[in-house]
Amino acid sequence: MRILALESSCDESAVAVYDDAAGLLAHQIYSQVDLHRIYGGVVPELASRDHVRRLLPLLKTALDDAKTSPAQIDAVAFTAGPGLIGALLTGAALGRSLAYAWNVPAIAVHHLEGHLLAPLLENDPPPFPHLALLVSGGHTMLIDVAAPGSYAVLGETRDDAAGEAFDKSAKLLGLPYPGGPELARLAAAGRATRFDFPRPMLDRAGLEFSFSGLKTAVALAVKHCAAKNGGALDDITKADIAAGLQQAIVDTLVTKTLRALEKTGYDALVVAGGVGANRLLRERLAHAAARQGAKVFYPRIEFCTDNAAMIAVAGMARLKAGTVEPAAIRARANWALSELGPLVEPQKS
Ligand code: KG4
Ligand code: ZN
Repeated sequence: MRILALESSCDESAVAVYDDAAGLLAHQIYSQVDLHRIYGGVVPELASRDHVRRLLPLLKTALDDAKTSPAQIDAVAFTAGPGLIGALLTGAALGRSLAYAWNVPAIAVHHLEGHLLAPLLENDPPPFPHLALLVSGGHTMLIDVAAPGSYAVLGETRDDAAGEAFDKSAKLLGLPYPGGPELARLAAAGRATRFDFPRPMLDRAGLEFSFSGLKTAVALAVKHCAAKNGGALDDITKADIAAGLQQAIVDTLVTKTLRALEKTGYDALVVAGGVGANRLLRERLAHAAARQGAKVFYPRIEFCTDNAAMIAVAGMARLKAGTVEPAAIRARANWALSELGPLVEPQKS
């Protein structure tokens, strides 16, 4: 079976063609970062308009690259939520309509299920059950993945997501959007020990996160250092703040993830979502998990951030489980993972 998948939940327009026997045949991503940079963040209306412009040309290229004609497509998957509603509707309208025109099933994919199943695109896929750390611009969650489709949230953030903490701090440091990768780059040149930022919620039991206090701590450090330096930060201080912040976020994520591994007793950990591209996080988790006898599974870096290959994999799993959309165009800005039905029955241990 061969599936065409569309992703348009935020500021990446993406299309992929995936075959359940041959694997990923083609994928195309167009990032809108240049469009949003001057505004310092994603402007929803501009994102929707650009998806409308980009999706069809990307689709044509993906089908050409995959040497696939529309007649060979068995289903069309699209991200139906959660995300920016206008942006989601562009992919949902195109995806649902193509499925109607081609007379094949349409599959509404949950964006986070896409992130969670992205490591299945790799040669060494994770076993089930496993623990997943999902860290993106909108979410920070530890999830017990009993089987594909069976997700129990063990803990999540009470306020900002980890990616948001990176992005908002980057803005305070005057870095261009998107801030996370820029801040990580700057942090590589800084000393993580100069600023001792808080590690929120580490002193408390449980698997909840809170990152909004970190942003305030960074704002205070920026203000204090700038005042001492004639109103502007010097480059060394900027790099030291970036390194200190990255260290605080990574320490928090690693400590809670180890707790969750201990709690579940699982020996496999999946790290998914955009912040999963962070090198320090990857290195620290690999070492820490190994000491606890667990192995870490990541999607390749380009499939950590938003892409359509992960939507195709999740869509294929949902297609096989018979979850198809009626002939109506639907998208949801908010959609809890717990609302998803299981794809296969979890194995009893
Ligand atoms: O999964 P994603 O592409 O979009 C959402 O669904 O949110 O994640 C984007 C987030 C942004 O907050 C971005 O700054 C962050 O992932 N990010 C990073 C890195 N690369 C992307 N954060 C820290 N270090 C990175 N290398
Ligand atoms: Zn995402």
